Amino acid sequence: MSQSFARHRRLRKTPAIRGMVRETQLHKNDFIQPVFVTYGTDVKLEISSMPGVFNFSLDRLGEEIEEIVSLGIPSVMVFGVPETEAKDSMGTGAYSDQGIVQQAIRMIKQNYPELVVIADTCLCEFTDHGHCGVVHTHEHDGHIHADVDNDESLVLLAQTAVSQAQAGADIIAPSNMMDGFVQVIREALDEAGFEDIPIMSYAVKYASAFYGPFREAAQSAPQFGDRKSYQMDPANVREALREAESDVQQGADMLMVKPALAYMDVLRVVRDNFDLPLVAYNVSGEYAMVKAAAQQGWINERGIVTEMMLGFKRAGADMIITYFSKDVVRWLREEWV
Ligand code: PBG
Repeated sequence: MSQSFARHRRLRKTPAIRGMVRETQLHKNDFIQPVFVTYGTDVKLEISSMPGVFNFSLDRLGEEIEEIVSLGIPSVMVFGVPETEAKDSMGTGAYSDQGIVQQAIRMIKQNYPELVVIADTCLCEFTDHGHCGVVHTHEHDGHIHADVDNDESLVLLAQTAVSQAQAGADIIAPSNMMDGFVQVIREALDEAGFEDIPIMSYAVKYASAFYGPFREAAQSAPQFGDRKSYQMDPANVREALREAESDVQQGADMLMVKPALAYMDVLRVVRDNFDLPLVAYNVSGEYAMVKAAAQQGWINERGIVTEMMLGFKRAGADMIITYFSKDVVRWLREEWV
């Protein structure tokens, strides 16, 4: 009996045919693994809300890097967790030659010169108030109000980027959402002789509850107030285009959308409007939710994670920063379908 309707199932008949018509592929080159480095010695401390993710002291960071390199993951993103006593109002540790991130970058590049090291350029892990820039506070009606000064913060950010490049960072990734950060960092890098270091801009970064577990890991939660005066309102998408446009004009080499899971539409519009490489940041809260449900036996972790990663790429991401990088690349080796 001949039918007039389409037979879509013809192309789903066997694993081989499905593989041939598959539109989106995951590859190890897509993945960036974040690493947390902390002070002290002999530390490998699991972050309680991020099972499988650890804070490493410098002397043990090599174990983690070795595993990442042996899996063939091309890149890491380095976050620093300094001692509480080392934090100050100006985030000095972020741009010190002896800062924890600078030391980690030097160590990694010395031992693994081929690994692409991305430095997150922000102050919040290094300020005692936990904000991403220079804060001016005033009291009003019994409440403390905090203003994060844009242009004063830019000066410190540029210093941070240069010191990270001097330590050997291959890519600078400014995440603090001050206006003009790409321009100021580009100028500072060029002046210091780092014309060849690309900027991966956290161009579109929302004020998100999904960063909760990261702030536990990096001890970087704001001590008062929130980040809504510099990070974006989750309700907005046209604003994402304005943010991305500014960063492109200022000389960004890559754009990022963060978080990823609840912002797939944003990935899509940024992909459709700009031709720079696009990065999705699958953030800590997205990781924690999957891990928690998987530990309960409620979901199939591998299936769920693979589907999420395909979703980010289908939405337009070229690269994915994810705490699942090592897992996904391991699964890719075994061959997934
Ligand atoms: C630094 C920074 C944050 C994250 C990446 N860089 C925290 C924040 O903005 O509060 C979050 C990453 C994650 O949740 O996985 N500003």
